[in-house]
Amino acid sequence: MTKYIIKGGKPLNGEIEISGAKNAAVAIIPAALLATGSCRIENIPQISDVTMLLNILKELGGDIRTIDRHTMEINCDKITSCRADSDNMRRIRASYYLIGAMLGRFGRAEVAMPGGCNFGGVRPIDQHIKGFTAMGANVEVRNGMVIASTENGQLHGANIYLDVVSVGATINLMLAAALAKGRTIIENAAREPHIVDLANFLNSMGADIRGAGTNVIKISGVSSLAGGTYSIIPDQIEAGTYLAAVAGAGGEVLIKNVIPKHLNCITVKLEEMGADVEELDDAVLIRREKPIRAANIKTLPYPGFPTDMQPQTTAVLTMAKGTSVVTEGVWDNRYKYVDEFLKMGARIQVDGRLAVIEGVSGLTGAKLKACDLRAGAAMVIAGLMASGTTEIECVHYIERGYEDIIGKLRAVGADIVSITSPDEPEDEVREAV
Ligand code: EPU
Repeated sequence: MTKYIIKGGKPLNGEIEISGAKNAAVAIIPAALLATGSCRIENIPQISDVTMLLNILKELGGDIRTIDRHTMEINCDKITSCRADSDNMRRIRASYYLIGAMLGRFGRAEVAMPGGCNFGGVRPIDQHIKGFTAMGANVEVRNGMVIASTENGQLHGANIYLDVVSVGATINLMLAAALAKGRTIIENAAREPHIVDLANFLNSMGADIRGAGTNVIKISGVSSLAGGTYSIIPDQIEAGTYLAAVAGAGGEVLIKNVIPKHLNCITVKLEEMGADVEELDDAVLIRREKPIRAANIKTLPYPGFPTDMQPQTTAVLTMAKGTSVVTEGVWDNRYKYVDEFLKMGARIQVDGRLAVIEGVSGLTGAKLKACDLRAGAAMVIAGLMASGTTEIECVHYIERGYEDIIGKLRAVGADIVSITSPDEPEDEVREAV
């Protein structure tokens, strides 16, 4: 069992370098299955979700070469199986991108459903299935597997209107459509930066995808994709998490290797909460000296305030002057972590998608248990803001999506260490992000 021990109450000062985007990497790695030849992918974050996905490709027969810490060469030429049902598949949400990639390459996919989710509610895939079906696939869900097939081994283009703005469905349908016969139009598509990154990656291999970043994406199927070299964008949410950490703990930190435009939806709120933010070319400087102010936040698909920043921002608001209202506009329920904050003296009431946070003058350290990736990151922020010692268990959730969080926070003066005791077993990772 690994725990983080944080001695809070210290401001953060210095520089933090942001890694490649998790949610882009987990889409781009399966996309390599569509290429003939090797894809050299740079700026891959060293996180456990990526390791699991690379292992899945290896299990299928993919050839993966490590060039350096953040660069891999992936060659899927020898993969012939369109069945993926290993345990690793059930551990990460993004493993379902293999449905789109396999359908695109083989016209058939048999893929294990990803595991249940830990931040409340079901995570349906009806919009993915609706899109594949419109493209000519017959899709069934049987014995925990999604089985999708086509009559003549190839999908055809289709007009698809998504009933909800879904990142996962937009990505899966782009993967499926890249090699389909004819033109696919995805309407009401998600616009997140990682959607644009996937489109750029596929286009760099010879795909014909237009409109990514708007809500209408047009994909003209091509006959083949060739490998190449591509560098993943910086992680918007990792950067947002460190910005929130500084807004919460105070201090002055230069967040380097970011695309400032992707952070606007986060920085405007942090400014409202009392932080000063300066945008540079590929960095953002954040300073927080004044008291934290209350703010109302509603999470929405991009360019709205990201749901993946909701727990971290709630952590900051626990010590704001005044009362804040947070509305979760993407997931039915993403407040499971709130009970942990109450142990630290926070005052929060949750009612469905709403959380009302009455700011307190201080948090006190406590023993906490991370319950998902972003909730875990929020607990780290609360620990940095609190007086005394905070102990966080189940940190494997955090390590699914944050590369070297301990090293990066220690470099800016945080008193945080990771301790592993070999005798205690880690809680099994079952849910997916
Ligand atoms: N939805 C449906 N039907 C579908 C698909 C989605 O009703 O077929 C609903 C969901 O229930 C949810 C909303 O649509 O209410 C948005 O879901 P979306 O499909 O956009 O989420 P996702 O693709 O499963 C990705 C990220 C999440 C992030 C969401 C929203 C990855 C691997 N995961 O999930 O990231 O919260 O988009 O932005 O990209 C995280 O990184 O911590 C994380 C959870």
